[in-house]
Amino acid sequence: MRIAILSRAPGSYATKRLVKATSDRGHEVRVLDTLRFGIDLASDEPELQYRGRPLPNFDAIIPRIGASITYFGTAVVRQFEQMDVYTPNTASAIAASRDKLRAFQILSRYDIGIPKSTFVRDRKDVPEAIRRVGGAPVVIKLIEGTQGIGVMLAPDAAIAEAIVETLHSADQNVLLQQFISESKGRDVRAFVIGSRVVAAMRRTAQGDEFRSNLHRGGSIAPVQLDPECERVAVRAAQILGLQVAGVDLLESDGGPLIIEVNSSPGLQGIEAATDLDVAGAIIDFVGNQVGFPSLDVRQKLGMAAGYGVADIVVRDGSDLVGQAIGDSSLRDLDVSVLMVQKNGHVHPNPRRDHILEVNDRLTCFGHLDSMRALAPERRRRKIQIDDLPGEPLPDL
Ligand SMILES: Nc1ncnc2c1ncn2[C@@H]1O[C@H](COP(=O)(O)OP(=O)(O)O)[C@@H](O)[C@H]1O
Ligand SMILES: [Mg+2]
Repeated sequence: MRIAILSRAPGSYATKRLVKATSDRGHEVRVLDTLRFGIDLASDEPELQYRGRPLPNFDAIIPRIGASITYFGTAVVRQFEQMDVYTPNTASAIAASRDKLRAFQILSRYDIGIPKSTFVRDRKDVPEAIRRVGGAPVVIKLIEGTQGIGVMLAPDAAIAEAIVETLHSADQNVLLQQFISESKGRDVRAFVIGSRVVAAMRRTAQGDEFRSNLHRGGSIAPVQLDPECERVAVRAAQILGLQVAGVDLLESDGGPLIIEVNSSPGLQGIEAATDLDVAGAIIDFVGNQVGFPSLDVRQKLGMAAGYGVADIVVRDGSDLVGQAIGDSSLRDLDVSVLMVQKNGHVHPNPRRDHILEVNDRLTCFGHLDSMRALAPERRRRKIQIDDLPGEPLPDL
């Protein structure tokens, strides 16, 4: 196998370890500087140039895309995907996880705990926003911060307002987040590969610091995660579409809360804390996946005009209740059931004899017109429109 590690730092611990793990397993390996690619479009076949020369074949890439080059880096990864080269983390997954707001928007649709978070733009909306996330002290975060830089704790609403305003005036988008005080100064990093946590460590901040990042002087120790933490960490990575991820969790009184999912997690801390060969585990995983290039399902299925993927909820009283999938009306409607979600459990590729029950959520592929009638009812909000202080309507 031939593997390319996309990295701007050939001498970094992580890159060195990945190179060694790859060659130890008898594979060919190259480190390629992410910023030296040229992405050629408009040719018949998607192509990539490297340092001005056509790229030879690779079976897989391992992208290590730093926060400062997300745009170009994800474009390079996307080009590899279009060339059917396997990548454990796709461009869209990297982009979604990098943006804390976007990641939370995606995660909050599933039963994954996250600290109460809110995003506002106008200073006047800050006091209400702080109240909604549980009051001061409140955490303020830059949307694309890393290594603890850009994470602040504001002791009261007035200071929070001033910080938010300052950051906005510097064109920085910020998130307001509930301060999980019981976890002050501690977090857990779960290293997820595929559907497993392969290593985990606890990080503890130095002195009065509340941020436990290693770059902020945090110390590390191995930790045995409880099954709930493991489940949540794996699920968060999977929901975001990352096969290699560093998932950061806070242990709150109400259970684990995800604060961040990193698509290029460091290896030095986790290998030092746990004495495990995480780099080797990544290469083993990649070796097993090559041959199944990741594909963008939405994009691919969008080619069939009029067809699409939709969730259908089996409602009480529906004629689907009690029916086996194979005998139900879905087949006649040209709708295939890809997956059933039931009480938090997922049944992929359900069999024809799978009996449908009330509240099953079916992920289906089919004709959009036939599925529209079966779509879940939209949640009705109780708030009346007259209660909303809208802007005065313009004179027409
Ligand atoms: N809501 C919170 N409550 C308490 N501590 C937090 C909270 N959010 C972050 N922290 C602390 O700050 C650190 C950095 O936050 P994080 O969101 O992971 O940003 P970064 O991307 O900079 O690492 C975390 O590792 C944790 O120790
Ligand atoms: Mg972090």
